[in-house]
Amino acid sequence: MTLLPWAEHDHAPVIGTIICVETDIPKIGGKAFSFGDGNKPFRMFIIRDGDELKAYINGCTHFTGTPLNPNEVGNFLDAKDPTLIYCGVHGSRFLLSTGACVSGDCDGEGLQAIPISVIDGQIMIG
Ligand code: FES
Repeated sequence: MTLLPWAEHDHAPVIGTIICVETDIPKIGGKAFSFGDGNKPFRMFIIRDGDELKAYINGCTHFTGTPLNPNEVGNFLDAKDPTLIYCGVHGSRFLLSTGACVSGDCDGEGLQAIPISVIDGQIMIG
């Protein structure tokens, strides 16, 4: 499956868009964000990986467009192994550090990373 680059998705935030302040991201797990309305918003999440912050498209590679946190429940982490991101739909697991698929129906397809930076405590795209 060829993934559409994150920036080409409908409603994708442009470089420089401020997402939140760093303290909005929980110490453990991640926080979801969405842009655009209708039934196909651009969904992403930001999650801590040790001292780093990572951002990924919030869409499972098993079913295109299905968020990893159905009904907005969960903090994106596998309860048994918090080094992994967990899809709450059918249980695929992805490395927190890279988004690479490690088990489940993701079948080798990884999460797509979104570049972010932190400037003066604000997390922005790019
Ligand atoms: S939708 Fe995520 S594992 Fe099926």
